[in-house]
Amino acid sequence: TKRDYVIDEMISAKAIAARVESLAREISEFYAGTNKLVVVGLLRGSFIFIADLVRELDLPVEVDFLEASSYGNAMVSSREVRILKDLRAGIEGRDVLLVEDIVDTGRTLSHVLAILNTRRPARLEVCALLDKPSRREVDVKARWTGFEIPDEFVVGYGIDYAQRNRNLPYIGKVRFPE
Ligand code: PRP
Ligand code: MN
Ligand code: MG
Repeated sequence: TKRDYVIDEMISAKAIAARVESLAREISEFYAGTNKLVVVGLLRGSFIFIADLVRELDLPVEVDFLEASSYGNAMVSSREVRILKDLRAGIEGRDVLLVEDIVDTGRTLSHVLAILNTRRPARLEVCALLDKPSRREVDVKARWTGFEIPDEFVVGYGIDYAQRNRNLPYIGKVRFPE
């Protein structure tokens, strides 16, 4: 049976919205003029971030999803990355923007980037809402990052703890009281 925990707010819904808006502005500028952009959300964690981000983009976009899971219900990575659900469409010659909720060890991202690169996209970039650089095990970096955070277990805005709390409108950190 799971220990009781509490969630302390770390990044407010308002702060997230402001950051998403400015990320979208930078991304829209970067891709200005392209009509080949496909925004790919990594399920499940990115589903809220991608929904908010694409609505702020001033670009013609297609949206697709990919599911790769490594964590299951544990709080630490099992190091195994599996593709559970592949993209619907081919990405050869396309501009691909991969959207992630959080880069932790970097294993999920580097594995997915390797797979997508074999499909020869024109450009493959990453936008991650959160980055925990202190936890990195493989050398991978998003072109756009919303917030750098310390090594705390976070939930909300798409991110789960044992599949719960994805629906919180803010980012919180999980704490286990004595
Ligand atoms: C979490 C998170 C990232 C990944 C980051 O996904 O959403 O995708 O782990 O960890 P890493 O950098 O150490 O690989 P998870 O595997 O828990 O699946 P989920 O998105 O369905 O929650
Ligand atoms: Mn994920
Ligand atoms: Mg998870």
